[in-house]
Amino acid sequence: MEIKSSSMNEYPLMELEQGIPLFYPFISPDAKNSINSSLETRWIGQGPKVDYFEKAFKDKLTNNKELIATGSGTDALHLAYILSDVGPGDEVITPVFTCTATNLPILYQGAKPVFADIDPLTLNIDPNDVEHRITSKTKAIVAVDYGGIPADYEKLSLIAKKYNLKLISDAAQSIGLKYQNKFTSDIADFVIFSFQAIKTITTADGGMLVMKDNKFLEKAKRIRWFGIDRAEKQKGTWENDIYELGYKYQMTDIGASLGLTGLKHLSSLKAQRKKLLNIYSNGIKNKKIKVIDYPAKDGTDVCPWICTLIVNDDRITLMKMLRNNGVESAQVHYRNDRYSVFGSKQNDLPKMDYIEDKYLVIPLHHKVTENDALKICKLINSY
Ligand SMILES: Cc1ncc(COP(=O)(O)O)c(C=O)c1O
Repeated sequence: MEIKSSSMNEYPLMELEQGIPLFYPFISPDAKNSINSSLETRWIGQGPKVDYFEKAFKDKLTNNKELIATGSGTDALHLAYILSDVGPGDEVITPVFTCTATNLPILYQGAKPVFADIDPLTLNIDPNDVEHRITSKTKAIVAVDYGGIPADYEKLSLIAKKYNLKLISDAAQSIGLKYQNKFTSDIADFVIFSFQAIKTITTADGGMLVMKDNKFLEKAKRIRWFGIDRAEKQKGTWENDIYELGYKYQMTDIGASLGLTGLKHLSSLKAQRKKLLNIYSNGIKNKKIKVIDYPAKDGTDVCPWICTLIVNDDRITLMKMLRNNGVESAQVHYRNDRYSVFGSKQNDLPKMDYIEDKYLVIPLHHKVTENDALKICKLINSY
């Protein structure tokens, strides 16, 4: 049976044969073999492949930090908030412009997300605004590397240190990032990654929690698995109480099979994504439109996830024109403070207000060729 996406929308989600979709999952050519090899064993849930994936990620993308693979980036974030001891009555200063997954787990913990304004150059959290919002209830600061572009970790880590707060990096969009020649897990207390279907590396759904301090590892593992110490349980004796509230937040070996094969392609995916962003940055010359790019700083290396434009004009007309020419675009995220679950709109975020109706995301992924990117530049320049 052929499966097509469907929508009642005027513009349903685009298939590859219809043009250039905004997102497309990357599946390595050896992924099917890797998955099949797991299907032939007793381990299809959390088994040895998850261990291999954790080891491969640790070796490639951390400076020997402890980590655990999870069922999603959202799971990993929830664990990071638990391990940061975020609870009822606490406040967490967090980006307003992000996926809701950054902020919903703060509510799971009965704490309050305090939204900070954006830096208009990167659309990331503005450290100066963060500092203004610190109160005696603040427990942690969250940074998101929107589109793969790093938050200002230099300033954020100084603020976290000054006020004795945990710094949590939501790196769901920034696998492969180096900041001042460091992995962000050498800077933030906790860093989370996402391997959701459209992320640069996917496990269909999955995440990773990296801990700066390895003292959190055993607790993280327990809470990932109902609060049970799985190694102790194998002994078959009743010396294994559950004394903490745990969840079912593990990755499966099926997902890890995909992740292991995908990870081998990270450097070529990164090179292509950088090339595409560069084409957009240099090729879009329309004066009404600005491309969000990363500040070229020594020691900073990024793997762009999306390309965002700031459109100083009617972005909906631009979206329609692109769509009529076979190019999908969208907003992707909406300011979180508008959602009722977070208490409806906040009034003191002027920079967010300014871009609210102006940003638009265009395709940047492994299926987009250089010619596609040049075509998109041409269309935008003609607009
Ligand atoms: C910034 C950000 N944080 C968190 C998440 C949540 O990750 P996941 O979908 O793997 O739960 C996502 C993406 O989905 C994201 O873009």
